[in-house]
Amino acid sequence: MLRKSPFNRKKILIGVTGGIAAYKIPQLVRILKKEGAEVQVVLTESAKIFVTPQTLAVLSERPALSQFFKSDQGEWNNHVHLGLWADLIIIAPAGANTLAKIAHGICDNLLMSVILSARCPVFVAPAMDLDMWTHPSTQANIETLIERGVTLIDPEEGSLASGLEGKGRMAEPENIAKTLANHLTPAHNYFFGKRVLVTAGGTQEPIDPVRFIGNHSSGKMGFAIAEQLLSLGAEVELVYGSVSVTPPKESNNHQALTAKAMQQTCEQLFPQCDILIMAAAVADYHPTELASEKIKKSDNTLTLTLEKNPDILKTLSASRKPNQVCIGFALETEQEELHAQQKLQKKNLDCIVLNTLKNPQAGFAVDTNEVTLYCRDGQQFHIPANQKNQVAATMLQILGEWLNKPQS
Ligand code: PMT
Repeated sequence: MLRKSPFNRKKILIGVTGGIAAYKIPQLVRILKKEGAEVQVVLTESAKIFVTPQTLAVLSERPALSQFFKSDQGEWNNHVHLGLWADLIIIAPAGANTLAKIAHGICDNLLMSVILSARCPVFVAPAMDLDMWTHPSTQANIETLIERGVTLIDPEEGSLASGLEGKGRMAEPENIAKTLANHLTPAHNYFFGKRVLVTAGGTQEPIDPVRFIGNHSSGKMGFAIAEQLLSLGAEVELVYGSVSVTPPKESNNHQALTAKAMQQTCEQLFPQCDILIMAAAVADYHPTELASEKIKKSDNTLTLTLEKNPDILKTLSASRKPNQVCIGFALETEQEELHAQQKLQKKNLDCIVLNTLKNPQAGFAVDTNEVTLYCRDGQQFHIPANQKNQVAATMLQILGEWLNKPQS
């Protein structure tokens, strides 16, 4: 399944250097793309003798880059940006010359500049003739690279382009992909392969055919959480009310506009889920009566009678199996911490995420948020103001680490 692939939505930069094994890289690109990765190829001039940039560009669906400058107008391929963009860099095939250059920080082409600018894990899949591979210089360079945190994908034994037999063949693309997949599926990724029910947006409680009681929720926070979960390899059931943004394509999306509809949808989905994260702003009340026609303006005042909505989070949490995790959000305008802690207890949650409304750039509708997590064991984690997708990423990282620890 695509969404369970560790490559799903990962940004992989493939550095291709000159060597006959470069002809296998289109296959590596195809595997990674099929698994849902975004692939950017950067190749050296000598790689172009063995594989065309056109082939790599078509398969990766991005231009295959080799030059700093795109045109004589000065438009350039920003190596720092490329280095920071990647979640992972794999250099395949990595020739003896390239290994030596990386080990010594020689920066004479776009690929080398990208590697020196990278903050992500770097893998090398060497390919060369057997005597070059066993040469003390190459081995010393490999040792240096490993010491600095580069991961070696060992060359394989077999027939070499020189006609000799021995170690030096680049690992097959399938084996390179397997090594990268293992790296991207670390044991500490709590969410990988989990099914998560996420709610987002605000509910609308109809008064008559044209009016409703609603709130300002845009769905941005809930959708950001769903996006990040997908990146972590989770399967996401996304239930949302009224929103102003588009839900992710890869989640299973269900729109439910009223609290009652949201409750019904969540109740159907929750038994098959491992985790519930309720970021939706659910109306606490709905009008007792729904007028069949538009209510006419007559008296100076109009009285609506409201009836309490079900508390979806509380109901789901009460029905949960021992291994299901329930996380709520809290939106408070006064005594925030006290009320959040009370909700944590009353709704029997593992954690509640309190929006810090003292910051005008937090909470409803805006692109940013600032939150504090209150966990059931008393631990608290503050996440400073940032874009909602960044807050969601940090929140899931904290929660993943917290949930991975033995729970009391
Ligand atoms: O959508 P955005 O514009 O990005 O804004 C994000 C957000 C501010 C809406 C989000 O971060 C948030 O805080 N969502 C929860 C808002 C809320 O309803 O808080 P509450 O304190 O009223 O409810 C506590 C929890 O109970 C929430 O998880 C809520 O989903 C849940 N609840 C509330 C009422 C109800 N009848 N059923 C519920 O399940």
